[in-house]
Amino acid sequence: MSSEPFRPRLHFSPATGWLNDPNGLIFVDGVWHVFYQHHPHSTLWGPMHWGHASSRDLVNWTHLPIALKPDTLGTCFSGSAVATPEGEIKLFYTAHQTALDGSDFQVQCLVHADHELTSFAGDERNPVVDNPGLSAFRDPKVFWHEPTRRWIMVVTHGQSIGIRSSSDLVNWALESEFGDRDGRHGNGPWECPDLFPLQAADGTTHWILLVGIGSDSYGGGSGTQYFIGDFDGHRFANGNSSDTVLWADYGRDYYAAQSFHGAPRPTTMAWASNWQYARETPTRSFRGVLSLPRELGIADTPSGMRLVQGVPPHLASTFDTLPPAGVPKTGTYHFRLEISEEPQVAVCLFGEAEPQFTLHRVVTGWHLRTVRRDKSRIGASFAHDYVLGISGSITHIDFYVDNGLVELRSSDGLVWLTSLYFPEDVAGAVRVEPTRTTIVNAQPRSGSSQVRMLQN
Ligand code: FRU
Repeated sequence: MSSEPFRPRLHFSPATGWLNDPNGLIFVDGVWHVFYQHHPHSTLWGPMHWGHASSRDLVNWTHLPIALKPDTLGTCFSGSAVATPEGEIKLFYTAHQTALDGSDFQVQCLVHADHELTSFAGDERNPVVDNPGLSAFRDPKVFWHEPTRRWIMVVTHGQSIGIRSSSDLVNWALESEFGDRDGRHGNGPWECPDLFPLQAADGTTHWILLVGIGSDSYGGGSGTQYFIGDFDGHRFANGNSSDTVLWADYGRDYYAAQSFHGAPRPTTMAWASNWQYARETPTRSFRGVLSLPRELGIADTPSGMRLVQGVPPHLASTFDTLPPAGVPKTGTYHFRLEISEEPQVAVCLFGEAEPQFTLHRVVTGWHLRTVRRDKSRIGASFAHDYVLGISGSITHIDFYVDNGLVELRSSDGLVWLTSLYFPEDVAGAVRVEPTRTTIVNAQPRSGSSQVRMLQN
């Protein structure tokens, strides 16, 4: 695989060509399978295929042959995978066609795969769900709902989510729609829904509905919001007021998040980019990467139940640690910033003089200002400068840095911020001001205690 400065080491990227959404995430017989929106012939979005890769540890990935290719039904937009009780693997994707007048036509299709996920055959009855007259009707995510003993499909219905049910994965009945008055709405459709249960510490079950919003996300452009509530097999009931907006990530590079079917722990991956500038980022042989996998839980906070996300510990400990002088050995490193008594802390990455992140103490906790400059002239929408609030109870912030891609996590797991950079030196020094702020390497080797290094 070609090496180039902005190819991440611990985030998945395609060997060549274009990548956007993760699709068909499934864990089968100890193997994590990732499919993804892929254009193999170009580093620009084009006729969509499903690329395919697998991993036993979420660290090392094996590239596999392309799974789905455009055919007479259309190109292959986003979708999902399930394993049946008989051990058969089924994929669902949106067949997409563009009409002569430029309008979209989208239907849902079923694909039969073998248990090893090496062969893929479209069902002869495709499309299994016809278009009910919607211009945006896509991204089916299917799962088994044990209490009603039926399959459920959540799918984009314009700016809301359609919920369908089936007993045989072929015949689907519309149950309900959710969302045209809830959460954040931008110009485009809601995209890439996912619905799954999570268990709170007190044993109660809460349902998370992930929804991609193509424009007007927290940081601008595409982003991933979520709802938390209840699902009875027919309807999703929002547990918060309809104007509550919750973000799975406050950065500008976290989109189309999807959960793995059959995973030992609830785990998601997302596309680490933004439709505003995804086609302009300066990589050469490939374009587009996936986020780190995240393990999910929920926490009972003063504002209600909220999504908590963490990096699988064995993956976190694969990142290099940051040496005391703050000069990383490679561009792939992790460090932990202890939130001190300082009123303000600034973090400069990549040897740059100006901080990308500044924390200001406020009455309620911290304001985190994120600033991205456009030194490599990617385009008008790449630079950003905005602020988000973090509650006072956090003790530290983790930074996972991978050849320009930064994922930042608050110590309580409630706040994430994913952001792409294309710096001159991906392994440039990390500088923290004031210099007495503590940086801790957070993965002690077994038997040793944590090393505290004062930057001075
Ligand atoms: C989201 C999305 C999906 C669609 C796919 C096409 O990023 O727009 O709604 O299925 O990308 O590549």
